[in-house]
Amino acid sequence: MAADKYVFVTPMYNLGFLAGLKMYIDSVCVVGKTFVYTATGPVRLLKDQGRKCLHIHSSGGFHFGKKEDHSVPYLKSIMGFMGIEDFEAIVVEGVDAIPDRAETFKVAAAERARKVAIQF
Ligand SMILES: Cc1cc2nc3c(=O)[nH]c(=O)nc-3n(C[C@H](O)[C@H](O)[C@H](O)COP(=O)(O)O)c2cc1C
Repeated sequence: MAADKYVFVTPMYNLGFLAGLKMYIDSVCVVGKTFVYTATGPVRLLKDQGRKCLHIHSSGGFHFGKKEDHSVPYLKSIMGFMGIEDFEAIVVEGVDAIPDRAETFKVAAAERARKVAIQF
């Protein structure tokens, strides 16, 4: 609640991310702290304070933007649920599927990260 910027760095494991991050999410999504339910629906208690989230995510194959991706879309949803809608993802994909291009993919992502960092 005290933070105004959140950075998550995850590898994709079985179409999602590691259990440790899920445990963290389950610890911070707390009624009365980060959201509340009302008769007219949930209220996001972390909204309107300029908070932003950056998710840096890597995967061996190519899943980003596809239905089977339960990592980036899930984190985006849960942060939005608490009111943090300024969400950006930097995804490094295909590092195992096309190993001889892995370095190229990483260099491209690092370049994007440098650009994103200026605004973040
Ligand atoms: C247990 C396990 C499960 C994985 N599941 C997936 C997966 O579902 N999809 C995928 O594209 N890559 C999967 N991978 C590959 C990792 O996402 C990839 O190796 C990792 O993102 C590379 O990041 P790193 O260089 O930071 O370790 C898996 C790797 C492991 C060890």
